[in-house]
This record gives sequence, structure tokens and C-alpha cells, in this order.
Amino acid sequence: MKDVGIDAVEFRSGKLKLDLPGTFAEVKDEDPAKYTKGLGLHASSFPDAYEDIVTMAANASKRLMDRKGLEPDDIGRIDVATESAFDHSKPVSTYVAGCLEQVYDGDFRHANKGERKFACIAGTQSVDDAVNWIAADKNRGRAAIVISTDTALYERGDSGEATQGAGAVAMLIDEDPDLVTIEPEQGIGSVDETDFLKPNQQFPSVDGKRSMQVYLMRMREALEDYETQVETHPDDFAFIPFHTPFPGMVRKAAPLGYRHVARGTEVEDELAEEIGRQPRPEAFDDDEAYREALKEYTDKLTETERYQEWYSRAIEPTLDISSRVGNWYTSSVHLARLSALKHARENGIDLDHERLLVGSYGSGAQAEIHGETVQPGWEDEIAQLNVDDQLVERYDLSWEEYEQIHDVHNHEESVDVDPLTAPEKEFVFDGWGRMGERKYTYVE
Ligand code: CAA
Repeated sequence: MKDVGIDAVEFRSGKLKLDLPGTFAEVKDEDPAKYTKGLGLHASSFPDAYEDIVTMAANASKRLMDRKGLEPDDIGRIDVATESAFDHSKPVSTYVAGCLEQVYDGDFRHANKGERKFACIAGTQSVDDAVNWIAADKNRGRAAIVISTDTALYERGDSGEATQGAGAVAMLIDEDPDLVTIEPEQGIGSVDETDFLKPNQQFPSVDGKRSMQVYLMRMREALEDYETQVETHPDDFAFIPFHTPFPGMVRKAAPLGYRHVARGTEVEDELAEEIGRQPRPEAFDDDEAYREALKEYTDKLTETERYQEWYSRAIEPTLDISSRVGNWYTSSVHLARLSALKHARENGIDLDHERLLVGSYGSGAQAEIHGETVQPGWEDEIAQLNVDDQLVERYDLSWEEYEQIHDVHNHEESVDVDPLTAPEKEFVFDGWGRMGERKYTYVE
């Protein structure tokens, strides 16, 4: 079977930022620690007035193509995953291709384009589609560009307001990739749920607390399904990037996953002296008593040195970018992978041929778990990214500016404000066309 996976990745943040423990907590009259310690968030990225899901996607893709020396003819497929689309018919990928055609010779006339929707998991589904397209030999030697892009805004005052974010990740999917190969086994947990949805509306209707329970249940089912195909052990994976709506969510999911994977292994035996063995359902008369015992065991587990060492090694490094940018919805799990690889490079960790266990999630609701193998080109690839530069250069919003920018990106409002940053060598939103389409130009 062919080795197919992610050959290269690019990152594009919205150019504004909102300081959560500073600006946001002060106006909300909340303890800053609720954001930094509770949710695990320091800042959210926002798009400036001339940025949107298309500009962020096109700017990430252009940097990807330039870096890899690609021309439109090299690309046979452009897939966009988003839950922030502004058009029910024309996919964002056509707008992105239109942008790119302004700056390259040639065009994407023979590239298959589409748009994937299943909340935040659509980015992973698009990668899967592109991998399958290449594995099925339908690509005629060409690569695919998969882009996840979102402006993840909540209604002002919604419980999710602190978890907003905006940005895009562009991934080049190809044979014999430099970054990671994607293993074929997949675990799925999927149930019709109404935890988070946008029925013909821009901002989500969210049942915040329930959405967290649904996330955990679907992840557990996906892991169980994965384990029917692949044997797992806590030490099998260098990193475990999860979908990260906010780092506190992953902090809750991680011990449940660890407990599950450690059950029946020597890890459980070794921990037994300290915290006892894991409760088994057959030892309890009723479900509630079993659940209570499981919770007690899990709380003790998180206090053990063994768990904490694993968490610091395999989970914590996946959360860094997310804590600085907020929830990027379809990009979130791809930021978690990127964060881990960036951490490994910065800390001299040798990842060649190491494995990742990737847990994606989309409300509505579905989780997917698969393995990836890191390829020897990973370090050179990650070295070429400018994640920190983009994040440091973001314009720090005052509260009044945040309110205006939220209105600018609210489809129900028609607010015109001056941009807070100056565009340079990038695609910008440039007004409306005769059929209500959004127009874009490249600014030198
Ligand atoms: N110091 C330390 N910690 C503090 C604190 C302080 N001073 N004050 C509060 N905290 C802790 C709380 O104890 C809580 O942690 P625990 O859950 O571990 O107890 C945490 O900070 C958050 O506090 P609250 O629960 O009071 O926060 P909230 O109710 O204002 O909002 C939320 C939490 C409901 C998740 C909200 O952010 C939300 O609605 N988010 C959008 C939905 C979401 O992201 N759901 C996640 C799963 S769905 C998904 O993943 C899809 C997706 O991308 C949207």
C-alpha cells in the first residue's frame, strides 16, 4: 500500500488578538485564573476588517505553495473544511482557487474542489478524503491542498465567547510525505446530537456543559472502535493531539483515555500498589456506584507521578498554540499536531518514525481516532513555519475595538471600520460583486 499523508503544513492566524486574562476578564469582572487555569486560554485570534475565512485560507495556501515550489498544475484537488461558510452553494475552495489564480501563472481548472461540513471534525474528514483519492490512484501524480478555516465567533455574552478564535491551516496531502503518514485504521463514535449547531444562523446555539459530556462520550466510543483494530498502550504514542475547543477540555479527556488504554496492562498493575486496580462493572450492583468508583479512581490517577509524567510528555505540548489563539474549530486538532511537532523541534526530541494518536471531534456529534507515523522530513518542514512571528505580531485589541471587530464580522450588522493593521503581500477582502459574492485582491 502507498504511504500517503501530510507532506507540508501552513498556519495563518487572524491578525488581531484579544487578551483573555487581561482585557476580557476585566470587563467580565471575572478572576483571570478562570481563563488561564480553568479554560487554559491566554488569548483569542480575530480577523481584521479585511480578513475572513477566504483570505486566511488563501494566504496559508499561497505560503504553502511558494515554500514547496508548487504551481497550480501540481494540484489536483482543493478541499476546504469550515463551519463558517457564507454561501450555501458556492464552496469556499472556489474563492480560494480564484485568489490563487490572481498570483500564479496557470489555473486550477482541472482540480476537483469541494467543501466539507461536520462541525470541527470536517478538517480531518477532508484530509481523509484526499488521502483516499491518492491511495485510489485517482490523482494522476498530483497532490491535494486541504484547508481548514474558520472565524469561530459566538454571540456576544454567550458562554462560549471566551473560546472564540480565527485562523486557517493549509495542508499538502501527497504520497511519501515529509511530515506524517496516515495509518488506515480508524475508530469512529458517531451519534445524532443537538449539543452545538447553527440552523441557518451565523452564531452557534450551544449547550456548553452538555457539549463537554458529548465530546467525552463520542471520544470514548471512537477509542473503543479503534481498539477493535489496533492494540494500544499509553507509551505507544509520542504525542496525542486532540480536538481542543479550549485546553481545559483536553485536560478532562486525557485521564479518561489514559485509564482506558492502561486497563489490563502492566501500567495498571504498577499503579495498583498506589491507587488500587481500576473498578470493573461486574463488581458493582448498580451503574451509579460503578461510575462513582470510576470517578474516584480517575481523580487518584491524575495525582500519580506516572500519569503526570505521561501528561507532560504526550498531551501538554499539544496545547500551546491553542492556548494562544482560542478555538479554530476545523483547524483545532491540526493546531494540536503542529504544536506538538513544534515543541519537539524546539526541545531536540527525535520523532523520526514515532507515532501520534490523533483524536478529532465535531459537534452534532462525531469523534474519530487514527494513528500517524512521523516521517524523517518533519524537522525541516516545521523549521520553515513562522507561527511565533505571526502570533507576536498580532494587534492587541482594546475592549471597544473588540466590540467593533465582532460587529464587522457579524453578518447581521453592516458596520464599516478602518482596519487596525496594514495589509502587506496578502489577499484581502475587497467588497461585493454584482451577485452578492465576496471579492478579493492581492495587496503587494
Ligand atoms: N481559577 C481556576 N479555575 C477556575 C476559576 C478560577 N478562578 N474560575 C473558574 N474556573 C474553572 C472552572 O472550575 C471550570 O473548570 P472545571 O470544568 O474543571 O470545573 C473552568 O474554569 C471553566 O469555568 P466554567 O465552567 O464556569 O466556565 P463557563 O461555564 O463560563 O464556560 C463552557 C465553559 C461551557 C465550556 C463554555 O466555554 C462554552 O460554552 N464553550 C463553547 C462550547 C465548547 O467549547 N464545548 C466543548 C465541547 S464541544 C466541542 O469541542 C466542539 C467545539 O469546538 C465547539
